[in-house]
Amino acid sequence: MSSTLVTGIGELLTCDGLTPDLLGVRHDAALVTEGGRIAWVGDACNAPEADRRLDVDGRAVLPGFVDSHAHLVFAGDRAEEFAARMAGHPYDGGGIAVSVDATRAAGDDELRSLVAARVAEMRAQGTTTVEIKSGYGLTVADEVRSLRIAAEFTDETTFLGAHVVPAEYAGDRAAYLDLVTGPMLAAAAPHARWVDVFCEPHSAHAFTADEARAVLTAGREAGLGLRVHGNQLGPGPGVQLAVELGAASVDHCTHLSEADVEALSSAAGTTVATLLPGVEFSTRSPYPDARRLLDAGCSIALATDCNPGTCYTSSMPFVIALAVREMGLTPGEAVYAATAGSALSLRRSDIGRIEVGARADLAVLEAPSHLHLSYRAGVPIARALDLPD
Ligand code: NIG
Ligand code: FE
Repeated sequence: MSSTLVTGIGELLTCDGLTPDLLGVRHDAALVTEGGRIAWVGDACNAPEADRRLDVDGRAVLPGFVDSHAHLVFAGDRAEEFAARMAGHPYDGGGIAVSVDATRAAGDDELRSLVAARVAEMRAQGTTTVEIKSGYGLTVADEVRSLRIAAEFTDETTFLGAHVVPAEYAGDRAAYLDLVTGPMLAAAAPHARWVDVFCEPHSAHAFTADEARAVLTAGREAGLGLRVHGNQLGPGPGVQLAVELGAASVDHCTHLSEADVEALSSAAGTTVATLLPGVEFSTRSPYPDARRLLDAGCSIALATDCNPGTCYTSSMPFVIALAVREMGLTPGEAVYAATAGSALSLRRSDIGRIEVGARADLAVLEAPSHLHLSYRAGVPIARALDLPD
């Protein structure tokens, strides 16, 4: 096991939560990694010897981004649906069927290389952990295949058989619910850490509160942690359900009542509100009010939701810039939400922060400070830091 001393760090952002702004900014700092973990953090002048030295020449170093919500296992794209939305057609989830058809028709190797390319694209922009959902298979075999492929790239795999009711069950929702909560869940659970559901009364294709509750409770009984797509297209029951069931995350949170914000505030530290502003960008919708959530004491995270329908971006820096410009966050709050906040939504304390014992999952910027992530929006300044083994 060899060690690496990282020096020349212009700004080290630890996101350790120990300073009032939670960011733990340090100057003249250095760190040592060993065996894939952080072994030492301190002032450069006190740095210990290591097997290798990596000088980052004044660049900022921060925890790698944690993209806690992504749908990467799909074939084809829906660029024309995007163009139609930009011409005024609203999103209603109906286009998911197009991706289901394309995904079912793809071979395993094709799907695997599509996921590999998307994960590489993310890493090239500073993301070091990604959660990957199934949800474009919607048969037992295709959901299991999606999760098996996802598991080749991440430990954070999520069973989303309850994405939409597929066309072949359109006349019998109850039969699909029985499949998802029965044989499909049983086959998927060994390959998943989480279960998720698209709980959205504003989409005829998605699931009601009662249906979502059935999916989540069955998933919990199968040993899976809970995640919810909620309150995306309009006010709805997703947030209350997620809080009631102790879900780790409720994602989108675009349309929230005062009671929803209160529920999320009382569940801070347990149920994270994961905001996906790339979706509002790509569906031309109003952005969630991140400022209101933070001011109410809620835990928030930022993620891409990378998917072929509502948001085909893999870029956490883009999401950070949107959160700052459109959602009332400071640059530091946005970076924290994209690292430690997202890690919390995955119930992980070994990622999203730089401290001794954490994974050595680091991002480096072609810039001297984290402010540049939103200040230089659209410029590819972030990448994952490759360390020798
Ligand atoms: O998180 N809202 C549901 N699922 C995805 C979109 C999936 C799609 O349109 O392909 C989302 O926005
Ligand atoms: Fe999603």
